[in-house]
Amino acid sequence: QKVDMELEAIEKGGFEHFMLKEIFEQPKSIKDCFRGRLIADEAKLVLGGIRDYATALINAERIVIVACGTSWHAGLVAEYIFEEFCRIPVEVEYASEFRYRNPVIREGDIVFAISQSGETADTLAAMELAKSKGAIVLGVCNVVGSSISRVSHEGVYTHAGPEIGVASTKAFTAQLTVLTMIALKTALRKGTIAEQRYREILVDLENIPKKVEKALKTDEQVKKIAEIYKDARNFLYLGRGYNFPVALEGALKLKEISYIHAEGYPAAEMKHGPIALIDEEMPVVVIATRDSSYDKIVSNIQEVKARKGKVIAVVSEGDSLIPGMVDHTIEVPGTHEVLMPMVSTIPLQLLSYHIAVMRGCNVDQPRNLAKSVTVE
Ligand code: AGP
Repeated sequence: QKVDMELEAIEKGGFEHFMLKEIFEQPKSIKDCFRGRLIADEAKLVLGGIRDYATALINAERIVIVACGTSWHAGLVAEYIFEEFCRIPVEVEYASEFRYRNPVIREGDIVFAISQSGETADTLAAMELAKSKGAIVLGVCNVVGSSISRVSHEGVYTHAGPEIGVASTKAFTAQLTVLTMIALKTALRKGTIAEQRYREILVDLENIPKKVEKALKTDEQVKKIAEIYKDARNFLYLGRGYNFPVALEGALKLKEISYIHAEGYPAAEMKHGPIALIDEEMPVVVIATRDSSYDKIVSNIQEVKARKGKVIAVVSEGDSLIPGMVDHTIEVPGTHEVLMPMVSTIPLQLLSYHIAVMRGCNVDQPRNLAKSVTVE
């Protein structure tokens, strides 16, 4: 027993929980993910894992992404990136729905299966179904040799290292890294991205670990915010564009480890229902970094404030407008908007972590949850 506990303490590397260790590992895990694959000064992306199907990807008339939970959120970000850069229509499906609804799959369709564990039963079944209908199935997995990686035609590993905390953190940012690299490479070969833009984004991607490092410095400030809202019964998370899936992910993190009810929404959907929930008791986390939806999200913040909601805004460094409108601001470094989720998700991971710890929850092994869901 004592030996086991000591061993666990060593594995946690001085952190109180695996989740916190994994959150703080992200500058390294993102770097590990693109090491040897991204050579920004040569404008090169080497993705050996999907070499045989690179042409099929360029010619694909449709991409379908199947996944569950956090991996599904990574898929949503990927949808925006692939559509923007590759001009290929993308659908993102919950694997559990896809597998039971007789989906239309045509020969040559590309199906991406995203999974940290590589063992999620629904994702595996969705892949098998897609394969049986003639699709090319590409895996984005963290666990080497996992079932999903073996069933895929080809794939790209995320190389984030073992993720022990049930709440996925570093696997998410690694999935975003891999999917961004695949989209950029495909777009360049397809001719749907200008070379200059491609080069710029590669440089920005290479700088993401440093930006994540900086975003992690918000930890103390986020902890203070957690102290204020730890007893809230509900939370709302809002984002637009590339930050919409980040809102969903922030809400999922909070509910799974702190057991606080949380909902993520695209900010503009608020007025179609959730706005009715807003009063002075409701903390609303708004991801409002500087991007093409900035002005729109500023209006959404005003709508929340007009109903006396408490706004915690994640903003880009140097934002001089939003801090004057909201209750709390958390500044993160800016980057190209397609890469922003890797940075803007960091304070949300920290917020859920600190709230859960303050509520005395079992952060690494939340009730009712398993790390890999191998049954449907
Ligand atoms: C994430 O924090 C969850 N624990 C969960 O949603 C998870 O992402 C989902 O079960 C999918 O797992 P996978 O990536 O291993 O397939």
